[in-house]
Amino acid sequence: MARKKIIAGNWKMNMTPSEAVELINTLKPLVETDEADVVFCVPAIDIIPALEAAKGSNIQIGAENMYFEEKGAYTGEISPAMLTDVGVKYVIIGHSERREYFAETNETVNKKVLKAFEHGITPIVCCGETLTQREQGVTMDFIRQQVKIAFLGVTAEQAKTAVIAYEPIWAIGTGKTATTEQAQEVCGGIRKCIAEIYDEATAEAIRIQYGGSVNAKTAPELFVQPDIDGGLVGGAALKPDFGKIVNWK
Ligand code: 13P
Repeated sequence: MARKKIIAGNWKMNMTPSEAVELINTLKPLVETDEADVVFCVPAIDIIPALEAAKGSNIQIGAENMYFEEKGAYTGEISPAMLTDVGVKYVIIGHSERREYFAETNETVNKKVLKAFEHGITPIVCCGETLTQREQGVTMDFIRQQVKIAFLGVTAEQAKTAVIAYEPIWAIGTGKTATTEQAQEVCGGIRKCIAEIYDEATAEAIRIQYGGSVNAKTAPELFVQPDIDGGLVGGAALKPDFGKIVNWK
């Protein structure tokens, strides 16, 4: 069965709750499609107004992060039950910015991925190499390690529903999109890695996004690649351009 594309926006630390409602109202008519899942991953405080604003549309609301404990003395964190209680279905896990600025590791990513599945939330698991790693020729080794650790203890049935976002760090927010060949090569490598961990059926089912300076111009050539099942979009997700990315065909 053909995989349905999933096109997600990662708002990062942008948009106050009132700006969020305004943006969703602007984008709602532009992102209508049956051909892709459309997800807006928004700051925690925007989740509830975003859900309200997106009602009746095809926009699904996701979180940008989540903690791996159920509840307790973890000041400032958001629990999985807090997300499911309001109807959140997706959560970004292990974005490179969280790894860089908030000390997330492959191990904490794994704990969060397991916890998300436990609560029926689909994780969008991020991976990606630095420019130095790419220049040193260790891109695939590094990403395989990130993916293998992220999926430790995850069953094949769970993995089939997961989303992996390949985001080369050097392409994030730089305007430097990876070439379609580079993006396809790594996304194909990730699918192979999933086949090794699980089996072909799981590798065929899992959805793999590309992220890093995706825009209306680059989206079509990226999304036709055989192993690229959509995008995780930063900057361009905050603009009407996102409608063009979603309706890339
Ligand atoms: P940009 O699209 O702004 O490069 O951000 C990509 C990203 O980090 C999405 O998670």
